[in-house]
This record gives sequence, C-alpha cells and structure tokens, in this order.
Amino acid sequence: MPAVGIPTSGSNKEYPGNLTPFVTVTCIVAAMGGLIFGYDIGISGGVTSMDPFLMKFFPSVYRKKNLDKSSNKYCQYDSPTLTMFTSSLYLAALLSSLVASSVTRRFGRKLSMFFGGLLFLIGALVNGFAEYVWMLIVGRILLGFGIGFANQSVPIYLSEMAPYKYRGALSVGFQLSITIGILVANVLNYFFSKLKGGLGWRLSLGGAMVPALIITIGSIVLPDTPNSMIERGDRDGAKAHLKRIRGVEDVDEEFNDLVAASEASMQVENPWMNLLQRKYRPQLSMAILIPFFQQFTGINVIMFYAPVLFSSVGFKDDAALMSSVITGIVNAFGTIVSIFGVDRLGRRALFLEGGLQMLLCQIGVAAAIGAKFGIDGNPGELPKWYAIVVVLFICTYVAAFSWSWGPLGWLVTSEIFPLEIRSAAQSVNVSVNMFCTFFVAQVFLTLLCHMKFGLFIFFAFFVVVMTIFVYFMLPETKGIPIEEMGKVWKGHSYWSRFVDNDDKGDEIEMGKSN
Ligand code: BGC
Repeated sequence: MPAVGIPTSGSNKEYPGNLTPFVTVTCIVAAMGGLIFGYDIGISGGVTSMDPFLMKFFPSVYRKKNLDKSSNKYCQYDSPTLTMFTSSLYLAALLSSLVASSVTRRFGRKLSMFFGGLLFLIGALVNGFAEYVWMLIVGRILLGFGIGFANQSVPIYLSEMAPYKYRGALSVGFQLSITIGILVANVLNYFFSKLKGGLGWRLSLGGAMVPALIITIGSIVLPDTPNSMIERGDRDGAKAHLKRIRGVEDVDEEFNDLVAASEASMQVENPWMNLLQRKYRPQLSMAILIPFFQQFTGINVIMFYAPVLFSSVGFKDDAALMSSVITGIVNAFGTIVSIFGVDRLGRRALFLEGGLQMLLCQIGVAAAIGAKFGIDGNPGELPKWYAIVVVLFICTYVAAFSWSWGPLGWLVTSEIFPLEIRSAAQSVNVSVNMFCTFFVAQVFLTLLCHMKFGLFIFFAFFVVVMTIFVYFMLPETKGIPIEEMGKVWKGHSYWSRFVDNDDKGDEIEMGKSN
C-alpha cells in the first residue's frame, strides 16, 4: 500500500501557452514586492546592534552591552522595548493583511500592491527621521501595514500570471526578492555602521524608501491578472489579456476554467465563512500550518538577530555584521537553486531534503555553542576556528531553508486555494506567518537568555514535526494548473474524506461545469 500523502496526481489538462517575455517581465516587476519585506527583515537586526542607535533610543541595552562586561552574554539584549521595536511591525502586518483580502478581491491585486508600497514609503520616512521611540514604533507599524498588503497580493498575482508549468519558478521570484532585500540591508548595515553619529542608522532605516518606490511605481504600470479581471466582470478584456500573456490564440480552455472558477466564486457571499466549510478543510489546514511551520524553523532568529547572535557568541560588532552579510548571500543563492528545482524536482522533494539538512545543522549549532558557553554564558576569548564552525553550520542551515521552507512557504499556499477562497485564505496565511514571526521575534531574546543553546533544540523539534507532516500530509502540486488543484486532495488518502465529490461548487471549482 502506498504511504499516505505520497500521491502525486498528475494533471490531464494541458493549457497551451509559453513563457512569454511579457509574462516574465511582469512577474519580475511584481516579485519585487518582496523587496520591502526582505529589506525590513535584514535591516532591523543590524540597526539594533549599532551603538549610536542604542544610545539614543535604548540606553539601558547600550549600557548592558558595552559597559557591563560581566553580564551574561545570552542576556545582554533582553529588553522589552527593543523587542517591541522589532516585532510591532509584524502585528501591524497581520492586521492589514486581513483588510487587504477585501481590497485584493474587490479592486484587484494591483491596488493592494500599490497600498503596500505607499504605506511602506511613509513608514520609511518616519523611521529615517525618528527622534523618539514612539516615532520608531509608529514608523514600524506603517511598514507593517505595507508588508501586509504586499505579501497578501504579490504571491497571488504571481501564481495567477504564470503559465502553470513555470508557476513554481516565477513565484519563487517573490522569495528571491525577499532574500535580495535582506542581503542589501545586511550590506548597507555593514557600511552604514561605520558612519559617525546617528547618520548610519538613519540611512539604514530611511533606505527602505527605495524598495518602497520600486513596488509603488511597479504596481501602477503592471497589468491586472486575467483571474482578477474576470472576478470583477471584465470578461472580454480578460480574454484578450490572457492571449497576450500566454502568447497564443488558443486560450479557450484555460479561459473557460477561469470563468467557471469565477462563477463559483461569485456565489460566495462571505469568503471568510466559506473557508470554514468542511470541503476546504485541507486548504484551511495548510493556510495555517505551512506559515506556522515556516516560522518555527527558527529562520528569523538568524535573520533578525544574526548580528546580535554572533556578537553574543563572542564576535566583535564588525565581524558580527559581516557574518550576517555572509548568511544573506547564502540565502539569496540558495533561493536560485529553488527556482531551478521547484518545477523539476517538485515541492515535496525540496521540503523533505531541506528539513533534514536544517535538523542536522540545528543539532550542530546547539552542540557547538553549548560546548563552548556551557550554561553560565561566559566563554572568555573564542578561538577563530570555533567561530568559523558556528558560521558554517548556520550557513548550511540557511541554505536548506532558502530552497525549501522559504520559497515554498509562499508558493504552495498561493497555488492551492480555489478562487472563491483564494484571497481570504491567503490572508490567513499571511496573518499566521506574521503572528508567528512576531511571536518568535518577541520571545527569542528572552528564550536565548533562559534556554541558552537549548533554543536550537527547541526549533529542531519543530523541524522534525514539519518534515513528517510534509511526508504524510502534503500532496505534490508541481505541474498542476491552479484551477485543477482540487484533484490533489481527492487523490490523497486522508484529505479525500473532506472533499465531497458530488458537491456542485466543487465541480465548478474543478472547471467541469459549464
Ligand atoms: C519568510 C521570512 C524569512 C525569509 C528569509 C521568508 O520566506 O517568510 O520570515 O525571514 O523568508 O529569507
């Protein structure tokens, strides 16, 4: 008997269409929506390790870090306001992604992207000119609103524009620009931290205006997706547009399926309540569990706090910032592996390999840090080889995340929702993602202080759980047109019990109704 979950029902529909230059350029521009998210992830950790920034806004942390040499390294950054600075953004993003659901559905994907860019732009300005802690927090909240809108709409936009055979590769563009955003932020932090006075952190925070402008302007020039045009009643326009995107005249089959999906979608009055229906249980479970697992890989411990973490394990400030540049480079290159692998090897293979690799590295880091620091957290001078081993483990871990849970956390969730619940389900995905990011950011410094190296074991536990989950519960979605996706649940030994074969709405979703 085949193992549960292994089924990978191939699609029997083959919509004609090419990877046209038009769709490629469009997807590259839209994917840049990930830059604002990435820039932000990368910038906050570095800024919070800059002394002029700490002196101005968080003097008690500054004192603990620089003046009190005897203090426990694991605990030197443990400050509630500093943590609030990092994590306020994620709560704001959570709220705005819920609002973005209606905007994306009623007014199209482009408008949500536009709002995303604009709010982020204002937030960056407020932060760059901040004089008081409250200005920092208000700025972060605005950035968060922007990210909520962008992360809600960009993945949907990409998965709807892409021809299904290339959907993985084009959608991973979103993650690639997240990682480029992180890397650029890491490099800027490294150089700006050398500037005297407060200029460094102001430039780092204010620099967020650049990616914000890119997505704001990008969203104005981008075309809407055919799915969204149909959803808003413009069928003729949508068909002509679909021909242009796919580069062929014969788009009837795909177009009819889009129309059928849209009709099913129109029967739905309240997408939120609809999500709770039994037949959407597989999708709802994934919309909650995938982002939860993505964050409980522990990746953002590295992304937000790499400089803090590296300086906690004894690196000098400069070396700590440099090491985060290194992890940033690994993160971006690893994502490119995913772009090439995701439509060939499939989603499951990347998830499973990535999970295993992360697990081994987490055990390695915990052992290395634990052996050196023990439980009192005072290592004395660290030998160079030791620092290199820790960085190597961390890089191998980041590489694994960057071709598995990083891109797939956004890709799989953007492709499994039928149109009638797509926007709401994507909001659930973003909200859960942001909530878990918030949670990890909020508790990490305290956990590091109390659990010490055991923290890495804590995340390793979740990596084991999520890898088993993928093995048994996540069907393969590679090469299946979005509007045909319903069949992957029907072919799955567990999820099939939720999907009612005779349900009319479901048939429309599958594109079989006329
Ligand atoms: C995650 C972020 C993470 C980033 C790292 C994204 O997919 O959602 O939380 O910081 O990957 O590259």
